[in-house]
Order: sequence, then C-alpha cells, then structure tokens
Amino acid sequence: MPKIYITRMIPESGIEMLKNKGYEVVVNPEDLVLMREELIEAIKGKNYDAVLCLLTDEIDAKVFDAAGPQCKIFANYATGFNNIDVAEAKKRNVMITNTPGVLTNTVAEHTFALMLAIAHRIAEADKFVRALKYQGWAPRLLLGNDLFEKTIGIIGLGRIGSRVARHAVKGFDMKAVYYDVKRNEEFEKEFSAVYAPLEDVLKQSDFISIHVPLLDSTRHLINAENLKLMKFSAYLINTSRGPVVDEAALAYALANKIIKGAALDVFEFEPNITPELLALDNIVLTPHIASATEETRSKMSALAAANIIEALEGRTPPNLVE
Ligand code: GLV
Ligand code: GLV
Repeated sequence: MPKIYITRMIPESGIEMLKNKGYEVVVNPEDLVLMREELIEAIKGKNYDAVLCLLTDEIDAKVFDAAGPQCKIFANYATGFNNIDVAEAKKRNVMITNTPGVLTNTVAEHTFALMLAIAHRIAEADKFVRALKYQGWAPRLLLGNDLFEKTIGIIGLGRIGSRVARHAVKGFDMKAVYYDVKRNEEFEKEFSAVYAPLEDVLKQSDFISIHVPLLDSTRHLINAENLKLMKFSAYLINTSRGPVVDEAALAYALANKIIKGAALDVFEFEPNITPELLALDNIVLTPHIASATEETRSKMSALAAANIIEALEGRTPPNLVE
C-alpha cells in the first residue's frame, strides 16, 4: 500500500482522495512549518512513495536523499515551485507537480483587493475609525485615487496576470500595458492591451502589478533603479514572490515619495518583514494569503492529491513541472 507524507495539515479534500485510494497518509501532527532538519527526520528511512509539500518547504538533494529512491513524486501545494530544486529532481527521476489554474481567479481577486485597499486607503481608514478619530464627514478626509481609466502595467502575463488584466479592463475601464518574455497578440486584441518593454511599462503605469515566477532573471526585477522609472503617483502591487522586489529599495521609495504607495502579499525574507515597511502609512500588507479562500485551498488540496494518484498509478500527472 503506497505511503504518503504531507508536510503540514491541509484542507481535507485531498487527504480524503488519497485515503479513498487505500493509501496510508501521514500528516505532520504539528500545525507548524517543519524546520529543514525536522522534514528530513520525518521522511528519512520511512519509505514514502510520495510527499505532498508546501512553498515553505525547501526541497533539494538532501531531502530527496532522505526520501529515498522509491519516492516518485513531490507534489507542491502551490503554483510557484521556486522552493524545489527541479533540476535535481529530474536527475533522480522524481516527479514535481504544482497546482496552477485553480487559484488563478482567487489570486486575481486578492490583487484587486490590495489595489483597491491602497488606492482607496481602506487599511488607513479602518485604523482611523477604530481609533475614534472620525468626527464627521469632511471634504478632504482620506482622499485616495480612482482605478477608473487609469493604466495598469502587468508584469508577467501568465494565467494570473491575464486574469488581473481582464478585471482591470472589463471591470474598471482601465487601460492595460504589459511586459512578459513572450508577447501575446490574441490577448492584446481581446483587451486592447499594449505590449511594451519593462522600462516603458514602468514609466507609463499608474498601477504596476507583478505576476512573474521567482527565477534568477526576476530576482530584484523591481529595484531602486526601476522604482525611479515609475510615476510619483504610481502604486506597486506584488502577489507573486517577495524577492522579485528589493524591499529595502521599496521602503526607501515609499518613504521618499518616489512612488505613492504599495501593497504586498509576499515578502523578500518571508515571514520576516523589512522593519522600515511596517512604519509606513502608504503600504498595505497581507501575509501571503492571495490564494487563501476556502474554495481555492480545497481545490489546491484535491489537485495536489490528484497529481500524486496519477503518478503512483503510473500515469503522467496533470501538473508535471518540466
Ligand atoms: C502561492 O504563493 C502559490 O504559489 O500557490
Ligand atoms: C499561475 O498559475 C500563472 O500562470 O500565472
């Protein structure tokens, strides 16, 4: 009977699927991130056939060694898989899968929640009301900015970036410009979107939203130099991966009004936050929850399980990462 290890409790849907197959499922009993040594200890010599892991687990040669050669698949409970050494997995014929698609709309919604929150000053306003500072309607109280008819610059036009563009253009009458390593002319037609080099996207946009994976080529893509290209009135939104933004440079840009505001769901040194950011009013912060709805997390659980079942039954899993 196949044995599956899950590195932390996830929604039941996927666990049920694995159990219904008759697999033995072991879930890390602590609802805490496993430290690296704890993860290695948990799987070493246990002969698991599959591991369902999280974006907080660093999966590399040492972990594959601990899992042993019978372990066929590491199924990541995330779309991003920068936490896994995919080249090393390939060398060992270990399959790696992710959970794309099911979270696209939820992350796009969260991107808008952040964009609206920073532009309409929702977090600041909430604090203001709770502090009992509201003394009556006032013409200049907490003025924000419209999204309506502004330009959104999408950096990374994958599933999520395209969905954000769709909401922006169809829902908020925004204009879309985008940068990606690949041009998508069909998308341009459908959303009257304009493809431009990164520099031009940064210069033209009122809102910049980042949707690239974390790669060597995207680390610190938003650095001091690129922040200076943005409008003084512009907002930066990041729901992708923290290290795409140089957080020290962002804190400097926000404090010195080089850009107007930012909203982040992901952080360069997660779960640590650059302290300078915490002191600023012109930033909204959420703790890597862009895919965290009941609906989506349940689908991610089921998809990760489906990938494991396909792999263990000798078929190609639907979300094999190449
Ligand atoms: C979340 O950050 C994911 O990649 O799924
Ligand atoms: C995520 O699924 C993406 O491709 O943007």
